[in-house]
Amino acid sequence: MDDREKHHISVYLTEEQLNRRIAEIGAEITRRFAGQPVYLVCILKGSVFFTAELAKRIALPMTIDFMSVSSYGCKKCSSGVVNIKKDLEHSIEGENVIVVEDIVDSGHTLSRLLAIFESRNPKTLTICTLLDKPERREVDGLNVDYTGFVIPDKFVVGFGMDYDQRYRNLPYIGILEETE
Ligand code: IMP
Ligand code: MG
Repeated sequence: MDDREKHHISVYLTEEQLNRRIAEIGAEITRRFAGQPVYLVCILKGSVFFTAELAKRIALPMTIDFMSVSSYGCKKCSSGVVNIKKDLEHSIEGENVIVVEDIVDSGHTLSRLLAIFESRNPKTLTICTLLDKPERREVDGLNVDYTGFVIPDKFVVGFGMDYDQRYRNLPYIGILEETE
């Protein structure tokens, strides 16, 4: 059966809402680092669309790099065991690193990533997430610098985010409900 027959997706954040908020964050980051180069780190795959939009809204000299991590869990959860599948191409020592995440849920992924990045001695380390689900947090004291939207405890897809690798290409963010 096609997945779309099993799932109902209701629009939660439109493309316009997303892009307006991303432009605001881009302007804030541009002001914060005025004139300095930044090193944008996209966490694959969920952050690809967010990174692309955000990068266009930051008017600073920029390097964009990608990192892929796996967290073994079920289709809708994260286990907290995070492994690097693809590492950055360059050293981040002395760089203004901006980590771009799609969503902070339990917080395990981000907390593990922060430990990895901090150990590499960047000049500054800034965390940027499109979505945050604070109700689901299992890690204390995570400091996120820029958050697009705080959302309730619902499973969302689209704008890069998936359910079992599907729905990343939706131009909006929708709440996924199983219909059976
Ligand atoms: P955490 O380690 O529990 O914070 O999980 C973070 C990762 O789980 C995110 O980077 C997403 O890839 C994925 N994730 C968490 N919640 C959702 C959701 O509602 N939709 C799609 N992916 C999600
Ligand atoms: Mg992710």
